[in-house]
Amino acid sequence: MLQRTVIIDALKSKNFNQPINVRGWVRSRRGNNAVNFIALNDGSTIKNIQIVVDLTKFPEEQLKPVTTGSCISATGILVPSQGAGQDIEIQLTELEVYGTADPEQYPLQKKGLSMEFLRTIAHLRPRTNTFGAVFRIRHNMAMAIHTYFHQHGYFYFHTPLITASDCEGAGQMFQVTTKNLYNLKKDENGQIDYSDDFFGKQTALTVSGQLEGELGAMALGKIYTFGPTFRAENSNTPRHLAEFWMIEPEVAFIQKEELMDLEEDFIKFCVRWALDNCMDDLLFLNQFVDKGLIERLKSVVDTQFVRLPYTKGVEILQEAIKNGHKFEFPCNWGDDLASEHERYLVEEHFKKPVIMTDYPKEIKAFYMKINEDNKTVQGTDVLFPQIGEIIGGSVREESLDKLNAEIERRHIPMKDMWWYLDTRRFGAAPHAGFGLGFERLMLFVTGMQNIRDVIPFPRTPKTAEF
Ligand code: 4AD
Ligand code: MG
Repeated sequence: MLQRTVIIDALKSKNFNQPINVRGWVRSRRGNNAVNFIALNDGSTIKNIQIVVDLTKFPEEQLKPVTTGSCISATGILVPSQGAGQDIEIQLTELEVYGTADPEQYPLQKKGLSMEFLRTIAHLRPRTNTFGAVFRIRHNMAMAIHTYFHQHGYFYFHTPLITASDCEGAGQMFQVTTKNLYNLKKDENGQIDYSDDFFGKQTALTVSGQLEGELGAMALGKIYTFGPTFRAENSNTPRHLAEFWMIEPEVAFIQKEELMDLEEDFIKFCVRWALDNCMDDLLFLNQFVDKGLIERLKSVVDTQFVRLPYTKGVEILQEAIKNGHKFEFPCNWGDDLASEHERYLVEEHFKKPVIMTDYPKEIKAFYMKINEDNKTVQGTDVLFPQIGEIIGGSVREESLDKLNAEIERRHIPMKDMWWYLDTRRFGAAPHAGFGLGFERLMLFVTGMQNIRDVIPFPRTPKTAEF
């Protein structure tokens, strides 16, 4: 049997009048009494290859199982196409049907199915044009990220998914236990005794690899993590997942300005990578999902991000309110900005990405470096058009005394943090890092509207199907 040619290669081939074999899933079959056209896709590209079937050689009976969604192997002769719409086509000489797809039951018959419906068939949606494009881009973005850090001398550092510490201190963790939940022993104070649990202590899925990432940076200088993180926050929004992937570089010896330079350079590299490597898929998404997509991607690559202290940002927002702009949530100094505030600054006021800095310490995590004013910390979040916060970052507090004071003030259990504090005890160094939400980047790069549609199998409150 002839070796399979993937369709992305077949479409570029110039081996005319030679036999070729392609295999994939039928997108459509149409035609008349004399000739049929099969549009075949194998996932290697958004483009289908056209198989031309001479009905004198293949009677209708033999073609019956070749319906939308069925899987076939098609051998034939590669020829320049007679019709418009494609450069080449295959004249079928040999057909094998691997798997049928009953037209009465196969759910992907029609075009224009809603995103909501497609979420209910997430096991099949990668076979649509839109999701094929999204998941090919997702792969490419992962490659961009590894390439960027590798080229810049970072080491990929694997941090644990099961942990006993709450990095962000927000208490939004999924517990991990092998305890029998039907027969939980409690002590005299009504507390669960974890000493006999699998790890001998209370553990959970990590919300961030940062704390262990910092340990890596204090030895290897520059590291990054790239893995799943978990948050049991009950936010049913188009921007939140309970399981999402995060990229967290951590760098010794850099300060706030260099951290912001890194954030900006890194994001631009990723977006440029998409423009350089995913153009077929972007063109499709630009046409059918978001007409402004490619222009927006190009504008981010070419523009300089605004660097804006939180206090200035609040001033701008209050000025807007004074001038009649209506926000749902209030915006006073000390408040955590809502996504409507972030988007106002980015989309309406500056019309470009903003790196917001120096937040009130009360709304940020314990590890951020406290400024001289003792009120603000050196956070450096990146706010993006359409998305809001895409990166959360900061310079880390390297002084043991200041960090201890903050841990005490927030009542974070010290005994669990001894290993983290050792980095400040032994050879402490100034350092900084950030976390990029991979699916938020994916939202931006694909123009998709809902974070559930840029990860193959989304986990959100009340959904863990597939
Ligand atoms: O701002 P966050 O909470 O920061 C951290 O976790 C730090 N430890 C990162 C660091 O400095 N190393 O999360 C970082 C990013 C956010 O900016 C956002 O893009 C994404 O992670 N993110 C989420 N993405 C999807 N669903 C959620 N529930 C998310 N929560 C945060
Ligand atoms: Mg954040």
